Amino acid sequence: MNCIIRLAEERDIDALATLDKLCFTLPWDRSSFEFEIKENLKAIYLVADYNGKIIGYAGIWVILDEGHITNIAVHPDFRNRGLGTRLLSELIELSERRGAKRHTLEVSVANHSAISLYNKFGFETAGKREKYYEDTNEDALILWRL
Ligand SMILES: CC(C)(COP(=O)(O)OP(=O)(O)OC[C@H]1O[C@@H](n2cnc3c(N)ncnc32)[C@H](O)[C@@H]1OP(=O)(O)O)[C@@H](O)C(=O)NCCC(=O)NCCS
Repeated sequence: MNCIIRLAEERDIDALATLDKLCFTLPWDRSSFEFEIKENLKAIYLVADYNGKIIGYAGIWVILDEGHITNIAVHPDFRNRGLGTRLLSELIELSERRGAKRHTLEVSVANHSAISLYNKFGFETAGKREKYYEDTNEDALILWRL
């Protein structure tokens, strides 16, 4: 699939907000993406660009030597083709170049596809946050990749 993974830019903000609505029940609004991409110096955001259409993204905050993965999403029509894997792999590589030595994230206990993607990268469960998600009341697993 002829899709490039590149750093997110200001011109991607509207497309990211639209994509997030398709992928999450509690999507981020435009201003969150705007802050992350334009102002947050700790953040790295990558997009999957398919002939100019944004079909996936992934983000991380690098704080000292820790990488906190904030989000990853692929457009429903383009899942299971390895894009999530490519985004996560490049995100981890970039964060390591910025000094991240270990990585963490939260994921719903019910999100089996995401958990299995993270397990593929060596993330392991280190704890649980009860009723973490406001909309579903589901618990979140805290995963670490050391
Ligand atoms: C999680 C997500 C980003 C995966 O993206 P993707 O492009 O489909 O991922 P890939 O095609 O690279 O698949 C990666 C791995 O995920 C797992 N996976 C993907 N879809 C799966 C499914 N339906 N059931 C079980 N495992 C699945 C597999 O382990 C797969 O590895 P494999 O192909 O070697 O078996 C995508 O499902 C998504 O956008 N989900 C909605 C948003 C979301 O929940 N994000 C995570 C927030 S914490």
